[in-house]
Amino acid sequence: MSAPGLTTTKAPFIEEARSNGELYIQQPYDLYSDENQDTWRRLYARMLPRWEKYAHPRFLDGVRNLALNPDAIPRLEEINKFLEPLSGFRAKAVSGYVPAYLFFDCLRNRDFPTTITIRDGSSLDYLPEPDIFHDVAGHVPMHTDKVFADVLVRFGEVAQSAARMAADISDKAERVRVVESIIKGMARFFWFTIEFGLMKRPGGQGVCVYGSGILSSYGEIEHAVKSPSVQRYPTN
Ligand SMILES: [Fe+2]
Repeated sequence: MSAPGLTTTKAPFIEEARSNGELYIQQPYDLYSDENQDTWRRLYARMLPRWEKYAHPRFLDGVRNLALNPDAIPRLEEINKFLEPLSGFRAKAVSGYVPAYLFFDCLRNRDFPTTITIRDGSSLDYLPEPDIFHDVAGHVPMHTDKVFADVLVRFGEVAQSAARMAADISDKAERVRVVESIIKGMARFFWFTIEFGLMKRPGGQGVCVYGSGILSSYGEIEHAVKSPSVQRYPTN
């Protein structure tokens, strides 16, 4: 009999973890169904040629360094065997959404909250929820780069500094407002860089992609690089 599956929004294991208030979980690898594995294979096979064409060279180095398997959903413990010696980062399985401050604080500790479910095979294109293809194939290859990884840690340090600075504000409502406002600004910056960033191609013409939201989306990657309708602004 096939395993019950770890399909995004349809995984009883995840529902149960959430209802028990468990955010950090194990990756119950045997629960992936044959269909889940097939979804990974199809996602990977169609993205690979697009990565080779449009991704930042450091991302492609990362894919090689992680030894991602085109044919099987990655085991996070295997990923971490390659990742941790390179940058100190670890992919850490979570049951769902991690609030922004906590997310940044995980990065400060070089833990990357990682979704373990995989999208429904009937809709391979961009979906609003992260899944393991977005988190592991879209984000983690860049985390093998030491400089990039240190920038992620900086996000965490800045969030912590914001909380410390705000601790001196005696009015509680004002304290919360200040921290929330800073974290919101940081989340926006993260969105336009780590999630959806483009970079000038090193030593070449045009731009290449390092943002994970684009790197994990078959339709977006070519559009982001080629379409004249995309607004590409430098971050100063
Ligand atoms: Fe993401």
